[in-house]
Amino acid sequence: MEIVIVGSGAREHSIGLALQKECRIDGIYFYPGNGATSKLGKNINFSNDREFVDFAIQENIGLVIIGPEAPLVEGLADSLRENGILTFGPSAKAARLEGSKAYMKDFAKRYDIPTARFIQTQDYAEAVNFIEDLNLPIVVKADGLCAGKGVVIAQSYEEAKLSAKEMLSGKSFGEAGKKIVVEEFLEGFELSVFAMCDGKDFIVLPPAQDHKRLQEGDKGPNTGGMGAYAPSPLANEMLIEKVKSNIIKPTLEGMEKDGNPFVGVLFCGIMVVKDEPYLLEFNVRFGDPECEVLMPLFKRGLLDCLLGCAKQDLKGVDYELEEGYCVGVVAASKDYPYKSCKKELIHIEKQGSEDSHISYAGVIKEGEELYASGGRILVAVGKGRSVKEATNKAYEALKGIEFYGMQFRKDIAYQALRLEENE
Ligand code: AMP
Ligand code: GLY
Repeated sequence: MEIVIVGSGAREHSIGLALQKECRIDGIYFYPGNGATSKLGKNINFSNDREFVDFAIQENIGLVIIGPEAPLVEGLADSLRENGILTFGPSAKAARLEGSKAYMKDFAKRYDIPTARFIQTQDYAEAVNFIEDLNLPIVVKADGLCAGKGVVIAQSYEEAKLSAKEMLSGKSFGEAGKKIVVEEFLEGFELSVFAMCDGKDFIVLPPAQDHKRLQEGDKGPNTGGMGAYAPSPLANEMLIEKVKSNIIKPTLEGMEKDGNPFVGVLFCGIMVVKDEPYLLEFNVRFGDPECEVLMPLFKRGLLDCLLGCAKQDLKGVDYELEEGYCVGVVAASKDYPYKSCKKELIHIEKQGSEDSHISYAGVIKEGEELYASGGRILVAVGKGRSVKEATNKAYEALKGIEFYGMQFRKDIAYQALRLEENE
Protein backbone atom coordinates (compact mmCIF):
# COMPACT_ATOMS: atom_id res chain seq x y z
CA MET A 1 0.00 0.00 0.00
CA GLU A 2 1.11 3.54 -0.70
CA ILE A 3 0.07 6.33 1.63
CA VAL A 4 0.13 10.14 1.63
CA ILE A 5 0.81 12.33 4.65
CA VAL A 6 -0.48 15.87 4.13
CA GLY A 7 1.51 18.67 5.77
CA SER A 8 5.08 19.90 6.10
CA GLY A 9 5.95 19.98 9.80
CA ALA A 10 7.73 17.84 12.36
CA ARG A 11 4.30 16.38 13.13
CA GLU A 12 4.05 14.91 9.65
CA HIS A 13 7.70 13.82 9.71
CA SER A 14 7.07 11.99 13.00
CA ILE A 15 4.06 10.15 11.56
CA GLY A 16 6.23 9.10 8.61
CA LEU A 17 9.05 7.96 10.93
CA ALA A 18 6.62 5.85 12.96
CA LEU A 19 5.03 4.29 9.86
CA GLN A 20 8.24 3.50 7.98
CA LYS A 21 8.56 0.32 10.09
CA GLU A 22 5.25 -1.00 8.70
CA CYS A 23 5.97 -3.71 6.17
CA ARG A 24 2.52 -3.25 4.57
CA ILE A 25 3.55 0.23 3.42
CA ASP A 26 5.38 0.24 0.10
CA GLY A 27 5.84 3.98 -0.15
CA ILE A 28 5.10 7.26 1.63
CA TYR A 29 4.31 10.51 -0.16
CA PHE A 30 4.38 13.83 1.67
CA TYR A 31 2.20 16.66 0.37
CA PRO A 32 4.13 18.98 0.36
CA GLY A 33 6.59 17.70 3.00
CA ASN A 34 9.90 19.32 3.93
CA GLY A 35 13.64 18.88 3.37
CA ALA A 36 13.77 15.87 5.69
CA THR A 37 10.62 14.02 4.66
CA SER A 38 12.10 13.55 1.20
CA LYS A 39 14.56 11.14 2.81
CA LEU A 40 11.70 8.99 4.10
CA GLY A 41 9.55 9.09 1.03
CA LYS A 42 8.69 11.36 -1.87
CA ASN A 43 7.57 14.96 -1.58
CA ILE A 44 4.79 15.90 -3.97
CA ASN A 45 3.14 19.21 -4.74
CA PHE A 46 0.12 20.39 -6.68
CA SER A 47 -1.29 23.74 -7.63
CA ASN A 48 -4.65 22.82 -6.09
CA ASP A 49 -6.31 20.08 -4.10
CA ARG A 50 -8.29 18.81 -7.10
CA GLU A 51 -5.01 17.82 -8.73
CA PHE A 52 -4.00 16.09 -5.51
CA VAL A 53 -7.27 14.11 -5.37
CA ASP A 54 -6.73 13.06 -9.01
CA PHE A 55 -3.23 11.92 -8.11
CA ALA A 56 -4.58 9.87 -5.17
CA ILE A 57 -7.12 8.18 -7.47
CA GLN A 58 -4.59 7.46 -10.22
CA GLU A 59 -1.97 6.10 -7.85
CA ASN A 60 -4.52 4.03 -5.95
CA ILE A 61 -3.40 5.55 -2.63
CA GLY A 62 -4.37 3.28 0.28
CA LEU A 63 -4.59 5.93 2.99
CA VAL A 64 -4.30 9.70 3.29
CA ILE A 65 -3.44 11.17 6.69
CA ILE A 66 -4.14 14.88 6.95
CA GLY A 67 -1.87 16.63 9.49
CA PRO A 68 -2.82 20.33 9.71
CA GLU A 69 -6.20 21.92 10.42
CA ALA A 70 -6.45 24.26 7.42
CA PRO A 71 -6.99 21.59 4.72
CA LEU A 72 -9.47 19.82 7.02
CA VAL A 73 -11.51 22.97 7.57
CA GLU A 74 -11.41 23.56 3.81
CA GLY A 75 -12.85 20.10 3.12
CA LEU A 76 -9.94 18.07 1.78
CA ALA A 77 -11.11 14.94 3.66
CA ASP A 78 -14.57 15.28 2.02
CA SER A 79 -13.10 15.52 -1.49
CA LEU A 80 -10.94 12.46 -0.90
CA ARG A 81 -13.73 10.36 0.61
CA GLU A 82 -16.16 11.33 -2.16
CA ASN A 83 -13.63 9.75 -4.51
CA GLY A 84 -13.31 6.56 -2.51
CA ILE A 85 -9.94 7.34 -0.91
CA LEU A 86 -9.55 6.14 2.69
CA THR A 87 -8.79 9.24 4.73
CA PHE A 88 -7.76 9.89 8.31
CA GLY A 89 -9.20 13.30 9.17
CA PRO A 90 -12.63 14.82 9.75
CA SER A 91 -15.02 16.32 7.22
CA ALA A 92 -15.22 20.11 6.89
CA LYS A 93 -18.43 20.09 8.91
CA ALA A 94 -16.86 18.06 11.74
CA ALA A 95 -13.71 20.23 11.57
CA ARG A 96 -15.82 23.19 12.69
CA LEU A 97 -15.09 21.93 16.22
CA GLU A 98 -11.73 23.63 15.68
CA GLY A 99 -12.59 26.04 12.88
CA SER A 100 -15.21 27.95 14.86
CA LYS A 101 -14.96 28.50 18.60
CA ALA A 102 -18.56 29.73 18.68
CA TYR A 103 -19.74 26.49 17.04
CA MET A 104 -17.67 24.43 19.48
CA LYS A 105 -19.03 26.28 22.53
CA ASP A 106 -22.63 25.98 21.33
CA PHE A 107 -22.07 22.30 20.64
CA ALA A 108 -20.65 21.80 24.18
CA LYS A 109 -23.67 23.57 25.65
CA ARG A 110 -26.15 21.52 23.62
CA TYR A 111 -24.59 18.24 24.66
CA ASP A 112 -23.86 19.16 28.26
CA ILE A 113 -20.09 18.98 27.95
CA PRO A 114 -18.37 20.85 30.81
CA THR A 115 -16.78 24.07 29.56
CA ALA A 116 -16.26 27.64 30.81
CA ARG A 117 -19.39 29.85 31.06
CA PHE A 118 -19.53 31.98 27.90
CA ILE A 119 -21.39 33.98 25.32
CA GLN A 120 -20.73 34.16 21.61
CA THR A 121 -21.62 37.37 19.87
CA GLN A 122 -21.04 39.74 16.98
CA ASP A 123 -22.32 42.65 19.00
CA TYR A 124 -20.00 44.85 21.06
CA ALA A 125 -22.68 46.00 23.54
CA GLU A 126 -23.60 42.40 24.28
CA ALA A 127 -19.92 41.55 24.81
CA VAL A 128 -19.52 44.49 27.22
CA ASN A 129 -22.57 43.41 29.23
CA PHE A 130 -21.19 39.94 29.71
CA ILE A 131 -17.64 41.20 30.42
CA GLU A 132 -19.00 43.36 33.24
CA ASP A 133 -20.68 40.29 34.68
CA LEU A 134 -17.44 38.27 34.96
CA ASN A 135 -14.57 38.25 37.46
CA LEU A 136 -11.03 39.02 36.26
CA PRO A 137 -9.16 37.76 34.34
CA ILE A 138 -11.52 37.46 31.36
CA VAL A 139 -10.98 35.38 28.25
CA VAL A 140 -11.81 36.85 24.82
CA LYS A 141 -11.48 34.62 21.76
CA ALA A 142 -11.78 35.23 18.04
CA ASP A 143 -14.19 32.72 16.47
CA GLY A 144 -12.11 31.57 13.50
CA LEU A 145 -8.65 30.07 12.94
CA CYS A 146 -5.88 32.48 14.00
CA ALA A 147 -2.85 30.16 14.08
CA GLY A 148 -3.08 29.88 17.86
CA LYS A 149 -3.06 33.63 18.42
CA GLY A 150 -6.77 34.40 18.73
CA VAL A 151 -7.08 34.20 22.52
CA VAL A 152 -6.64 37.12 24.91
CA ILE A 153 -6.53 36.63 28.67
CA ALA A 154 -7.45 40.14 29.77
CA GLN A 155 -6.26 41.29 33.20
CA SER A 156 -8.58 44.31 33.33
CA TYR A 157 -12.11 45.17 32.17
CA GLU A 158 -10.64 47.84 29.86
CA GLU A 159 -8.34 45.31 28.20
CA ALA A 160 -11.21 42.82 27.76
CA LYS A 161 -13.43 45.47 26.15
CA LEU A 162 -10.66 46.76 23.92
CA SER A 163 -9.81 43.22 22.77
CA ALA A 164 -13.48 42.57 22.02
CA LYS A 165 -13.72 45.85 20.09
CA GLU A 166 -10.59 45.22 18.04
CA MET A 167 -11.64 41.69 17.20
CA LEU A 168 -15.22 42.63 16.25
CA SER A 169 -14.08 45.52 14.04
CA GLY A 170 -11.78 43.14 12.14
CA LYS A 171 -8.71 45.09 13.29
CA SER A 172 -6.94 42.26 15.12
CA PHE A 173 -7.83 39.12 13.19
CA GLY A 174 -9.79 40.17 10.11
CA GLU A 175 -12.83 38.01 9.33
CA ALA A 176 -11.82 35.42 11.98
CA GLY A 177 -12.57 37.92 14.76
CA LYS A 178 -15.88 39.31 13.56
CA LYS A 179 -17.59 36.88 15.88
CA ILE A 180 -16.15 36.37 19.35
CA VAL A 181 -16.49 34.16 22.39
CA VAL A 182 -16.20 35.79 25.81
CA GLU A 183 -15.76 33.38 28.68
CA GLU A 184 -14.84 33.00 32.31
CA PHE A 185 -11.25 32.18 33.21
CA LEU A 186 -10.66 28.69 34.56
CA GLU A 187 -7.88 28.21 37.07
CA GLY A 188 -6.16 24.82 37.11
CA PHE A 189 -3.66 22.80 35.11
CA GLU A 190 -3.84 22.04 31.40
CA LEU A 191 -3.79 18.69 29.73
CA SER A 192 -4.04 17.52 26.12
CA VAL A 193 -5.96 14.33 25.52
CA PHE A 194 -5.99 12.79 22.05
CA ALA A 195 -8.66 10.37 20.91
CA MET A 196 -8.40 8.53 17.58
CA CYS A 197 -12.02 8.27 16.46
CA ASP A 198 -13.91 6.21 13.88
CA GLY A 199 -17.13 8.22 14.22
CA LYS A 200 -18.49 6.07 17.07
CA ASP A 201 -15.62 4.38 18.90
CA PHE A 202 -12.32 5.82 19.98
CA ILE A 203 -8.86 5.01 21.28
CA VAL A 204 -7.41 7.37 23.86
CA LEU A 205 -3.67 7.99 23.62
CA PRO A 206 -1.47 8.75 26.64
CA PRO A 207 -2.17 12.27 27.97
CA ALA A 208 0.38 14.82 26.79
CA GLN A 209 1.52 18.22 27.94
CA ASP A 210 3.05 20.85 25.76
CA HIS A 211 4.96 24.00 26.65
CA LYS A 212 3.45 26.89 24.74
CA ARG A 213 5.59 29.73 26.05
CA LEU A 214 8.91 30.63 24.45
CA GLN A 215 10.99 30.86 27.60
CA GLU A 216 11.88 28.73 30.56
CA GLY A 217 9.49 28.74 33.51
CA ASP A 218 6.59 29.22 31.05
CA LYS A 219 7.45 32.88 30.44
CA GLY A 220 7.57 34.99 27.30
CA PRO A 221 5.28 35.00 24.28
CA ASN A 222 3.01 32.16 23.22
CA THR A 223 4.34 29.89 20.48
CA GLY A 224 3.12 26.89 18.54
CA GLY A 225 4.79 24.81 21.25
CA MET A 226 8.41 24.58 22.46
CA GLY A 227 8.31 21.01 23.69
CA ALA A 228 6.06 18.24 24.92
CA TYR A 229 6.03 15.00 26.81
CA ALA A 230 3.77 11.99 27.30
CA PRO A 231 2.35 10.34 29.26
CA SER A 232 1.84 13.19 31.69
CA PRO A 233 2.02 11.94 35.29
CA LEU A 234 -0.24 14.88 36.21
CA ALA A 235 -3.21 12.88 34.92
CA ASN A 236 -4.42 9.81 36.76
CA GLU A 237 -6.69 7.10 35.43
CA MET A 238 -9.77 8.50 37.12
CA LEU A 239 -9.29 11.83 35.42
CA ILE A 240 -8.88 10.18 32.01
CA GLU A 241 -12.07 8.20 32.63
CA LYS A 242 -13.86 11.50 33.30
CA VAL A 243 -12.47 13.00 30.08
CA LYS A 244 -13.75 9.96 28.19
CA SER A 245 -17.23 9.89 29.70
CA ASN A 246 -17.87 13.64 30.13
CA ILE A 247 -16.16 14.99 27.01
CA ILE A 248 -15.13 12.51 24.30
CA LYS A 249 -18.14 10.18 24.40
CA PRO A 250 -20.83 12.88 24.34
CA THR A 251 -18.89 14.67 21.59
CA LEU A 252 -18.86 11.63 19.32
CA GLU A 253 -22.51 10.93 20.06
CA GLY A 254 -23.47 14.55 19.47
CA MET A 255 -21.51 14.78 16.22
CA GLU A 256 -23.15 11.61 14.95
CA LYS A 257 -26.60 12.81 15.97
CA ASP A 258 -25.99 16.10 14.12
CA GLY A 259 -25.05 14.14 11.01
CA ASN A 260 -21.33 14.96 11.20
CA PRO A 261 -19.61 11.83 12.52
CA PHE A 262 -16.08 12.60 13.64
CA VAL A 263 -13.36 10.57 11.92
CA GLY A 264 -9.77 11.37 12.78
CA VAL A 265 -8.05 12.59 15.89
CA LEU A 266 -9.93 14.70 18.39
CA PHE A 267 -7.49 16.79 20.40
CA CYS A 268 -9.15 17.88 23.63
CA GLY A 269 -7.56 20.88 25.33
CA ILE A 270 -8.57 20.39 28.95
CA MET A 271 -8.34 22.53 32.07
CA VAL A 272 -8.44 20.44 35.21
CA VAL A 273 -10.14 22.37 37.99
CA LYS A 274 -10.30 20.59 41.35
CA ASP A 275 -10.02 17.17 39.71
CA GLU A 276 -12.77 17.94 37.18
CA PRO A 277 -11.93 18.24 33.47
CA TYR A 278 -13.34 21.24 31.56
CA LEU A 279 -13.11 21.56 27.80
CA LEU A 280 -11.07 24.61 26.74
CA GLU A 281 -10.87 23.87 23.06
CA PHE A 282 -11.02 21.15 20.47
CA ASN A 283 -8.53 20.69 17.69
CA VAL A 284 -9.30 18.24 14.94
CA ARG A 285 -5.75 17.02 14.31
CA PHE A 286 -2.68 15.94 16.21
CA GLY A 287 -0.92 18.62 18.25
CA ASP A 288 2.50 19.73 17.17
CA PRO A 289 4.85 18.93 19.06
CA GLU A 290 2.56 16.49 20.94
CA CYS A 291 2.39 14.19 17.92
CA GLU A 292 6.18 13.90 17.91
CA VAL A 293 6.10 12.35 21.42
CA LEU A 294 2.98 10.22 20.87
CA MET A 295 4.04 8.45 17.68
CA PRO A 296 7.13 6.79 19.24
CA LEU A 297 4.90 5.42 22.02
CA PHE A 298 3.24 3.06 19.53
CA LYS A 299 4.98 -0.27 19.88
CA ARG A 300 2.76 -1.73 17.16
CA GLY A 301 -0.58 -1.20 15.50
CA LEU A 302 -0.39 2.50 14.53
CA LEU A 303 -1.29 1.80 10.91
CA ASP A 304 -4.21 -0.39 11.98
CA CYS A 305 -5.49 2.38 14.26
CA LEU A 306 -5.28 4.95 11.46
CA LEU A 307 -6.93 2.57 8.97
CA GLY A 308 -9.58 1.56 11.53
CA CYS A 309 -10.58 5.20 11.96
CA ALA A 310 -10.55 5.86 8.22
CA LYS A 311 -12.70 2.75 7.58
CA GLN A 312 -15.00 3.84 10.39
CA ASP A 313 -14.45 0.56 12.19
CA LEU A 314 -12.07 0.46 15.12
CA LYS A 315 -13.60 -2.71 16.53
CA GLY A 316 -11.02 -5.42 17.07
CA VAL A 317 -8.10 -3.20 16.12
CA ASP A 318 -5.01 -4.49 17.84
CA TYR A 319 -2.30 -2.13 19.02
CA GLU A 320 0.24 -1.86 21.80
CA LEU A 321 1.78 1.18 23.45
CA GLU A 322 5.21 1.45 25.07
CA GLU A 323 5.40 1.42 28.86
CA GLY A 324 7.81 4.33 29.07
CA TYR A 325 7.89 8.07 28.41
CA CYS A 326 8.71 10.26 25.49
CA VAL A 327 9.99 13.86 25.62
CA GLY A 328 10.40 16.28 22.72
CA VAL A 329 12.43 19.50 22.76
CA VAL A 330 11.82 22.02 19.97
CA ALA A 331 14.75 23.91 18.49
CA ALA A 332 13.55 27.14 16.91
CA SER A 333 15.26 29.86 14.88
CA LYS A 334 16.71 33.02 16.41
CA ASP A 335 13.74 35.37 16.19
CA TYR A 336 10.92 32.84 16.60
CA PRO A 337 7.98 33.43 17.11
CA TYR A 338 8.27 36.91 15.58
CA LYS A 339 10.27 36.18 12.45
CA SER A 340 11.40 33.15 10.48
CA CYS A 341 15.00 32.56 9.49
CA LYS A 342 15.85 32.42 5.78
CA LYS A 343 18.51 29.78 5.38
CA GLU A 344 21.01 28.60 7.98
CA LEU A 345 23.12 25.49 7.52
CA ILE A 346 22.33 22.78 10.09
CA HIS A 347 25.47 21.10 11.35
CA ILE A 348 24.55 17.55 12.19
CA GLU A 349 27.17 15.67 14.12
CA LYS A 350 24.84 12.92 15.27
CA GLN A 351 21.20 12.20 14.44
CA GLY A 352 20.27 10.67 17.81
CA SER A 353 20.72 7.15 19.13
CA GLU A 354 18.69 4.01 19.66
CA ASP A 355 16.40 5.86 22.08
CA SER A 356 16.36 9.24 20.41
CA HIS A 357 15.83 10.81 17.03
CA ILE A 358 15.10 14.11 15.32
CA SER A 359 11.79 15.09 13.74
CA TYR A 360 12.32 17.92 11.30
CA ALA A 361 10.00 20.86 10.57
CA GLY A 362 11.29 24.06 8.93
CA VAL A 363 14.09 22.61 6.85
CA ILE A 364 15.09 22.64 3.22
CA LYS A 365 17.48 20.22 1.57
CA GLU A 366 20.18 21.20 -0.87
CA GLY A 367 22.49 18.46 -1.98
CA GLU A 368 23.15 16.42 1.13
CA GLU A 369 22.82 19.40 3.48
CA LEU A 370 19.81 20.46 5.51
CA TYR A 371 19.18 24.17 6.09
CA ALA A 372 17.01 25.77 8.77
CA SER A 373 14.32 27.86 7.11
CA GLY A 374 11.35 28.91 9.20
CA GLY A 375 10.34 29.24 12.85
CA ARG A 376 10.30 25.88 14.53
CA ILE A 377 13.11 23.93 12.88
CA LEU A 378 13.24 20.52 14.53
CA VAL A 379 12.27 18.49 17.56
CA ALA A 380 14.75 16.29 19.44
CA VAL A 381 12.82 13.32 20.79
CA GLY A 382 14.00 11.00 23.56
CA LYS A 383 12.48 7.83 24.97
CA GLY A 384 13.05 6.29 28.38
CA ARG A 385 11.65 4.26 31.25
CA SER A 386 11.31 7.45 33.30
CA VAL A 387 10.63 11.07 32.35
CA LYS A 388 14.16 11.86 33.47
CA GLU A 389 15.72 9.27 31.20
CA ALA A 390 13.60 10.38 28.24
CA THR A 391 14.45 14.04 28.89
CA ASN A 392 18.18 13.28 29.09
CA LYS A 393 18.01 11.37 25.80
CA ALA A 394 16.24 14.27 24.08
CA TYR A 395 18.80 16.83 25.26
CA GLU A 396 21.67 14.51 24.36
CA ALA A 397 20.28 14.23 20.83
CA LEU A 398 20.10 18.01 20.62
CA LYS A 399 23.81 18.25 21.45
CA GLY A 400 24.64 16.68 18.10
CA ILE A 401 22.91 19.49 16.20
CA GLU A 402 23.66 23.13 15.68
CA PHE A 403 22.59 26.03 13.50
CA TYR A 404 23.06 29.78 13.77
CA GLY A 405 20.61 31.35 16.22
CA MET A 406 19.22 28.01 17.46
CA GLN A 407 17.11 28.49 20.59
CA PHE A 408 15.43 25.93 22.81
CA ARG A 409 14.05 25.64 26.32
CA LYS A 410 16.17 23.77 28.82
CA ASP A 411 13.30 22.92 31.16
CA ILE A 412 10.97 20.78 29.05
CA ALA A 413 8.92 18.37 31.20
CA TYR A 414 9.85 20.23 34.39
CA GLN A 415 6.55 19.61 36.18
CA ALA A 416 6.77 15.89 35.50
CA LEU A 417 10.44 15.78 36.52
CA ARG A 418 9.60 17.46 39.82
CA LEU A 419 6.82 14.95 40.48
CA GLU A 420 9.12 12.07 39.62
CA GLU A 421 11.85 13.36 41.96
CA ASN A 422 9.37 13.56 44.82
CA GLU A 423 8.16 10.01 44.37
P1 AMP B 1 -7.48 27.92 23.15
O1 AMP B 1 -6.89 28.21 21.80
O2 AMP B 1 -8.94 28.17 23.25
O3 AMP B 1 -7.06 26.61 23.75
O4 AMP B 1 -6.73 28.93 24.11
C1 AMP B 1 -5.31 29.00 24.16
C2 AMP B 1 -4.84 28.98 25.57
O5 AMP B 1 -5.49 30.02 26.31
C3 AMP B 1 -5.18 27.71 26.33
O6 AMP B 1 -4.25 26.71 26.10
C4 AMP B 1 -5.18 28.21 27.76
O7 AMP B 1 -3.87 28.31 28.25
C5 AMP B 1 -5.75 29.60 27.64
N1 AMP B 1 -7.21 29.62 27.86
C6 AMP B 1 -8.18 29.55 26.93
N2 AMP B 1 -9.40 29.59 27.48
C7 AMP B 1 -9.21 29.68 28.80
C8 AMP B 1 -10.08 29.75 29.93
N3 AMP B 1 -11.41 29.78 29.81
N4 AMP B 1 -9.53 29.83 31.15
C9 AMP B 1 -8.18 29.82 31.31
N5 AMP B 1 -7.31 29.77 30.31
C10 AMP B 1 -7.80 29.70 29.06
N1 GLY C 1 0.80 22.23 20.44
C1 GLY C 1 -0.46 22.80 20.30
C2 GLY C 1 -1.09 22.67 18.99
O1 GLY C 1 -0.67 21.92 18.13
O2 GLY C 1 -2.09 23.34 18.76
